[in-house]
Amino acid sequence: MKIFIANWKMQLSPEESVRTARSFARVFKNYQGQAVLCPDFLSLAAVSKILAKSPLVLGSQDLSAFERGAYTGEISPVDLQSLGVKYSLIGHSERRAYLQESDKLLAAKIKAAVSNKIVPVLCVGENALERKQGRAMAVIKAQLKGALQSLPTATLRSLIIAYEPVWAIGTGLNCDREQALRVKATINEWCRRGGFKKIPVLYGGSVKPENAVSFLGNDGFDGLLVGGASLEASSFYQIAAL
Ligand code: 13P
Repeated sequence: MKIFIANWKMQLSPEESVRTARSFARVFKNYQGQAVLCPDFLSLAAVSKILAKSPLVLGSQDLSAFERGAYTGEISPVDLQSLGVKYSLIGHSERRAYLQESDKLLAAKIKAAVSNKIVPVLCVGENALERKQGRAMAVIKAQLKGALQSLPTATLRSLIIAYEPVWAIGTGLNCDREQALRVKATINEWCRRGGFKKIPVLYGGSVKPENAVSFLGNDGFDGLLVGGASLEASSFYQIAAL
């Protein structure tokens, strides 16, 4: 089954998140697929209540590598799990760029997610300069290696990888289907060689109802990670119903 993840980033206030989640719960009432909402942390508890009787699943945009203790400002994966979080984005390019998240930290976060039964969604992708220099594949392989190499494959049964070319995020620019699928094949091959079996690979970056279908279909991606077009139930539904 394809998986569709809505990343609301820091776009909505808690009140707006509650309103938006209610509208999602209405629109997705009879939904039969796998769709995940990732609100910001301040809204998680309220959104979790709203989604309780809905087919929609709760996700987080990040989590702490630590479970409990003197870690000021961190959000424990233990508490996320008890709030009903089933998936967590890890290493989104915005966190890599603005918060300098390192591969070592991402590996620890993936481990923390898995030990709390949260499916880690590791985000990878090259920026515009790296693409221009012909280094996209090398960058992506280095990101995979950095975050996954130290983790035993047996503990990573539930991993998902999201390919999000940084230059396509929030820009309206789309990665062309063939190029995106070449990256998917590289990720699949890297995972196969590393002993990771059947890891779903999602695409993200300016996905809209009009272009979503081009990334799916025969031999396409296993789902989509959506930012801007996930802020309204109706546009996200058009994508998630594909
Ligand atoms: P946009 O869909 O707004 O380009 O954002 C993509 C993204 O970063 C999802 O994680």
